[in-house]
Amino acid sequence: MATIRSCCIFVLLALYAASLVIPSNCLGHFFLQKEHKPLFVFGDSLFDAGNNNYINTLKAEQANFWPYGETYFGYPTGRYTDGRQIPDFIAEYAKLPLIPPYLQPGLNNYIYGVNFASGGGGALNETSQGLVIDLQTQLSYFKKVEKQLRQKLGYAQAKTLLSSAVYLFSVGSNDYGAPVTFNKTKDLFEPYSQEEYVGMVIGNITHVVKEIYMKGGRKFGFVGIGPIGCIPALIVLQPGKIGSCLDELTQMAHIHNKALLKVLHTLQIKLKGFRYSYFDFYTSLSERLNNPTKYGFKEGKKACCGSGPYRGINNCGGKGPGKEYELCDNPSDYVFFDGNHPTERASQQFSKLMWSGNSNFTWPCNIQELFGTL
Ligand SMILES: *[C@@H]1O[C@H](CO)[C@@H](O)[C@H](O)[C@H]1NC(C)=O
Ligand SMILES: *[C@@H]1O[C@H](CO)[C@@H](O)[C@H](O)[C@H]1NC(C)=O
Ligand SMILES: *[C@@H]1O[C@H](CO)[C@@H](O)[C@H](O)[C@H]1NC(C)=O
Ligand SMILES: *[C@@H]1O[C@H](CO)[C@@H](O)[C@H](O)[C@H]1NC(C)=O
Repeated sequence: MATIRSCCIFVLLALYAASLVIPSNCLGHFFLQKEHKPLFVFGDSLFDAGNNNYINTLKAEQANFWPYGETYFGYPTGRYTDGRQIPDFIAEYAKLPLIPPYLQPGLNNYIYGVNFASGGGGALNETSQGLVIDLQTQLSYFKKVEKQLRQKLGYAQAKTLLSSAVYLFSVGSNDYGAPVTFNKTKDLFEPYSQEEYVGMVIGNITHVVKEIYMKGGRKFGFVGIGPIGCIPALIVLQPGKIGSCLDELTQMAHIHNKALLKVLHTLQIKLKGFRYSYFDFYTSLSERLNNPTKYGFKEGKKACCGSGPYRGINNCGGKGPGKEYELCDNPSDYVFFDGNHPTERASQQFSKLMWSGNSNFTWPCNIQELFGTL
């Protein structure tokens, strides 16, 4: 008995010492991690682990058919890739189980967190309205979870749990991408200027973050917008210019990311205890898209699954136009699984950078530091 105890104490002290030497310009006090802290996931198809399986929508907004899921799960789960996505890896690194989709039937234990993300969803109500779970609705689901936790654990303990949790977001890409598909006007974001449109997206994200803060949330992780104008699904859209990026979307991604960082910085100053981690997805994905071999891939711009040039036509699984599609032999040779989404292997690389990457990729904290702070 005594030896077991001293061994435990030794391990705990070692962990404590390790947590103290994590180099950081991330504010906050490190403390001993006794219990698993929950992970709540919000946003779009980069994070959706199957919520869209349970809503009435189009096949184009779902991934619950072969070959999605072929690499890791061996069956389609609703994740928009061959295997695991970023929240799956983050959960693993945080020693949590896989975080289930909120709409999964029978789910009623939220102690480890839950995933509200919805493929095609955006911060704006209007983005793919009626086909997705938009961010405001995701917030309303979170409030139901908060209420259930309060009933189960009592107010104080629920609040402690929610304060220890990490809230992970990937949102905005569809707000900028959807008008390309649905709005055929010359100026995509008409009647708004680019800045006004970004202002609405950021305003709605800020609202959600503040509401979660009011319920006790303190630690927020954001994946910035990627190079949305340069992904396979987009570079096939401009007649006569197949293969070139859509400049207006590139601009919007930059304006958005800058505005998001500014808001997060302001919230950290204004809201006591608020901390965040921002992942530079734009640079990380662009580097792999442009120099795939440097990161162990054979193909950067062409997707593994789809049809047409760059397999950019969103027809993976044969549910789209023409039904015919191509599927590569080895998804891990590719950065993109389908025209819009990274492969499991690319997501694993991003997750490692988010979890423990230095401040060239993720700042002011990385996700490991967020989990580690009180
Ligand atoms: C979203 O749209 C609905 C109507 O469809 C409206 O009632 C609601 O207030 C809107 N929410 C926001 C945040 O704009
Ligand atoms: C798209 O185009 C219509 C006009 O056809 C316009 O009313 C709408 O506001 C536009 N903008 C967006 C962002 O959907
Ligand atoms: C949220 O988005 C709606 C459009 O969907 C917009 O009218 C509203 O002003 C935005 N809210 C904020 C706080 O920016
Ligand atoms: C960030 O990148 C620069 C240039 O690539 C490099 O010199 C620097 O050491 C990196 N910073 C860290 C903290 O690794």
